[in-house]
Amino acid sequence: MSEPTTLHPVNDDAMRALFLDARTARSFADAPISDAELHRIHELTMLGPTSMNLQSLRIVFVRAGEAKDRLLTHVADGNKEKAASAPVNAILAADIDFHDSLHITNPHSPNARDSFADVERRTNMARNQAWLAAGYFMMAVRALGYAVGPMGGFKASALDADFFSESSWRSICVVNIGKPGENPWRERAPRLSFEQSALIL
Ligand SMILES: Cc1cc2nc3c(=O)[nH]c(=O)nc-3n(C[C@H](O)[C@H](O)[C@H](O)COP(=O)(O)O)c2cc1C
Repeated sequence: MSEPTTLHPVNDDAMRALFLDARTARSFADAPISDAELHRIHELTMLGPTSMNLQSLRIVFVRAGEAKDRLLTHVADGNKEKAASAPVNAILAADIDFHDSLHITNPHSPNARDSFADVERRTNMARNQAWLAAGYFMMAVRALGYAVGPMGGFKASALDADFFSESSWRSICVVNIGKPGENPWRERAPRLSFEQSALIL
């Protein structure tokens, strides 16, 4: 892994791919994503900063097959068609037991694990930091030239019972990823202006 070099703004192509032209896709083309690209998406996602470097996000990449059929049963009716069309659906989850890896992810604080004995505190931290990393995940997908279609519309408790009954992972979001299909975009909804949503003090 390289050390940080001089920082500079990304070029216009990158700015378009990451922000200006990037849209939420509502249908996907029948174009594959390789395992190497999924590994790269994961690698880029995990580089984003999290509190104490705790890295509570977990990702299950689901391709066509038995697992996808099961996943689709947990997705809201209004989301089924778009989820079905994507070559990969990523189940993003928070690992409630992320503290068991803190000796690896935060070697500078040997006693860090002890501060997460309380399950409620740990669960909140796990979910908050997984959501933060979910943003990095979507930007990583876009950086590789694919579109994302995030979905909160799914039955989390049923999905967790199906996919995570034996683990400490808990789903937070499902993200469809792939190249855009037919009529993939809705009209862009307005964004709040600087005056409506920011301050410089
Ligand atoms: C966490 C999250 C959950 C979402 N859930 C759904 C969903 O269940 N169904 C859906 O059609 N769109 C869903 N969306 C898509 C948003 O409505 C969309 O990203 C937003 O309106 C911005 O659209 P744009 O990227 O095209 O500007 C979700 C987005 C996010 C980030």
